[in-house]
Amino acid sequence: MTEDAVPANELYTDGFAADPYPTFARLRNDRPVCPVSSPRFDSWLITRFDDARAALTDPRLSKDLYGPGQHYLRIFGPNSEGLNRNMLNSDPPEHTRLRRVVSQAFAPRRIEALRPRVAQVVDHLIDKMLPHGEAELMHDFAIPLPMTVICELLGVPPEDHDRVLDWTQVIRTSGSTRRPPQEERAAVQEAQLRLHHYFADLVRAKRGDPADDIIGALIDAVDRDGTLSEAELVTTTFLLVFAGHQTTADFLGNAVLALLTHPEQLELLRATPQLLPAAIEELLRFDGPLPVASPRIATEDIEYEGVCIPRGSIVGVAINAANHDPAHFTDPDRLDLRRVRGPHLGFGHGLHYCLGVSLARMEAQIALAALLRRLPGLRLGVPTDEVRRLPAASPFRGLLELPVTF
Ligand code: HEM
Repeated sequence: MTEDAVPANELYTDGFAADPYPTFARLRNDRPVCPVSSPRFDSWLITRFDDARAALTDPRLSKDLYGPGQHYLRIFGPNSEGLNRNMLNSDPPEHTRLRRVVSQAFAPRRIEALRPRVAQVVDHLIDKMLPHGEAELMHDFAIPLPMTVICELLGVPPEDHDRVLDWTQVIRTSGSTRRPPQEERAAVQEAQLRLHHYFADLVRAKRGDPADDIIGALIDAVDRDGTLSEAELVTTTFLLVFAGHQTTADFLGNAVLALLTHPEQLELLRATPQLLPAAIEELLRFDGPLPVASPRIATEDIEYEGVCIPRGSIVGVAINAANHDPAHFTDPDRLDLRRVRGPHLGFGHGLHYCLGVSLARMEAQIALAALLRRLPGLRLGVPTDEVRRLPAASPFRGLLELPVTF
């Protein structure tokens, strides 16, 4: 790594966790292609909108972490084995094959058909919160909603949802407990392993009793035509559980917090409910749950902004920095639900563009509409600066807790 690399711990401070946008603005201005050094792995960060969009479709930036170079070892650590060997971490033709098997299940028409069920889950969660006059919105609402939906889509039996939720939360909140780092890493590995075993067992059990769900379709792809290997079946399930709830949960938390801290925008949305779909895009641009896209690898020396990123480097495309680039968005740090200039990079771009985009949008629409309608007195339960967030170094931007009253 070059000598002038920024140490990760100087970048990802507590201040960054509270508000990363001033740091992103500095990087965009001064070092739009910035080397970042870290004891775990060194990387490069791309922060300008045009560079970020170009990088997300640059064929010289590979997503294949398990091919030559075995880059997953640097990124996920030696004990990660094949857990992350999925479409997100692969290039065509593997990517095409792995994505095609499940893409049907996320097609807009299939997702639209889920609307009544999602509304039911939303109403049930609000019914449970309502008598108390207060709630912790992450655990009472934002996390269980997408978790229930993705578990039902996959075909995880209802009695197991809590177990799966507990394991995924150990992984999601890693770095935020008071445990020593080594213990924390061990806890995460343990949770990953349990999830892996759980899904392997579930697949075995469902084989004898096939159902019309995503795991059923995946089993079919293994057994009928060998499109998928047994290991890929489990890693795809693992990816869908995470991708299907983590980002949506964090997005819902960030979106509600943004609305509660911008009362005039909240009022605008209450008064103009037809703004909701556009508002969701703006809320995602304003404070998205995936600040940096998943890692890419430079397969040759490549140049962005006159800076050479050497072959073999890990590259992070800073989505949230790009989405606040004043060269692309007027007054980018202002939440403006009427903003029309788009599109943003919150769902990615190119081959790995979010597979669950229709589901995420639909869940967010139903969730936010119901919260505004049924909780007219919704407000923050603590001062804004006391809202606890995921640690700065987390790959996700989200809240640990969102106390509210209504
Ligand atoms: C990929 C964002 C919800 C499944 C991505 C990517 C982004 C993203 C930025 C591209 C990552 C990259 O290129 O490195 C979001 C946001 C969500 C959301 C902001 C919620 C607000 C969902 C949901 C699912 C899902 C509900 C359902 C399963 C996936 C999958 C990929 C992906 C499978 C990998 C696609 C591929 O590699 O071809 N998402 N996502 N996401 N997302 Fe989402």
